[in-house]
Amino acid sequence: MNTSKKILVTGGAGYIGSHTVVELISAGFEPVIVDNLSASDTTLLEGIEKITGKKPNFHKGDCRDKSFLNQVFKTQGPIQCVMHFAASKAVGESVEKPLEYHQNNLGSLMTVLDAMRENQVTDFIFSSSCTVYGQPDTIPVTESAPFKRAESPYGATKQICERILEDVYPTGFRIVSLRYFNPIGAHPSALMGELPIGIPNNLVPYVTQTAAGVRKKLTVFGNDYNTPDGSCVRDFIHVVDLALVHVKALEYLLRDKHNRLYDVFNVGTGKGVSVLELVNTFIRTTGVKLPFVIGPRRPGDIEKVYADPSRANEALNWQAKYSLEDALKHAWAWEQKIRKAG
Ligand code: NAD
Ligand code: UD1
Repeated sequence: MNTSKKILVTGGAGYIGSHTVVELISAGFEPVIVDNLSASDTTLLEGIEKITGKKPNFHKGDCRDKSFLNQVFKTQGPIQCVMHFAASKAVGESVEKPLEYHQNNLGSLMTVLDAMRENQVTDFIFSSSCTVYGQPDTIPVTESAPFKRAESPYGATKQICERILEDVYPTGFRIVSLRYFNPIGAHPSALMGELPIGIPNNLVPYVTQTAAGVRKKLTVFGNDYNTPDGSCVRDFIHVVDLALVHVKALEYLLRDKHNRLYDVFNVGTGKGVSVLELVNTFIRTTGVKLPFVIGPRRPGDIEKVYADPSRANEALNWQAKYSLEDALKHAWAWEQKIRKAG
């Protein structure tokens, strides 16, 4: 029986992966990080060390490079489970570079699965996204909602990756796909958080950069949607809650004795929050000025989506604990920290 505590974390130098590494360490696991640093640097690895007091077991390399992966499996093994965060994730960029997105996101997934098979590792946790649903017909959305045609190549890669997982699991994999809603916030220590490259596309980094004076003003994309205040509605989830669900999913796999398994969970708070509500909550909880204007709708945006997280609440024994206020306070503390560091 494989009783190893070692968990291979691909993309572990990135935003969600690094927060998960911290939670894995505090739950007694031994993460082995693989990342090619294509969308990150060593800042968050340093954060992991400062928070946990442990030097991350980090291996720089590409998930599409099977001989590199084999070497990690062989020298670090036995590996209990692979958590696969590594992917390209910028929706806008995926429209400019669709081939690169398919190559990276599908190529990485298939190569990692292939290397797992060669090294007799069966357990796998995948970073999926609520983007697979598009605009669902019923909200809160449950895992059984059908996939709508993806709005972007990025969204398409997540749909195709899930299909690949569904196809391969009967050949001896035990897989959990976690469909994240909108991850926000930073580690409460302000030692780790989101590090967007260039001008942020996502709402919260744009909010904190505007509050810090890096951007002149925030544009709220549309106030004429069919929602209570006219702005879009999302399910914003604290990144530490998101990190913790990975530990719960791992424990779920360890508890389950089936030799093949495929399960999908929504990971959200279950609460819809509008963009204007988030902006006002940020101003109220931080006391910081946030210049904003209402602009036109952003093409491709979904009007409203939030999770029905009951399956994850029950089967994984997990629930989001942090409030929106906590997430925004932590994101702001992290932004101030990186500004100070220059
Ligand atoms: P991130 O960009 O901060 O982290 C991804 C990491 O993967 C980066 O450090 C990058 O260098 C690495 N990477 C990319 N391609 C690689 C490759 N071929 N080999 C090795 N390393 C590679 O992104 P994140 O926000 O932490 O997202 C993690 C996962 O969660 C991704 O799969 C993303 O699609 C998914 N996701 C993110 C969000 C979100 O809003 N952040 C929402 C839903 C799903
Ligand atoms: C987007 C992606 C989604 C991806 C997620 C994380 C789309 C359609 N979806 O989600 O696939 O998983 O990012 O990378 O792109 N907003 C503003 N002003 C801003 C920025 C955002 O008003 O400057 C609004 C948006 O219109 C949206 C909400 O804030 O209504 C959230 O936007 P964002 O953080 O980009 O996430 P999503 O679009 O929900």
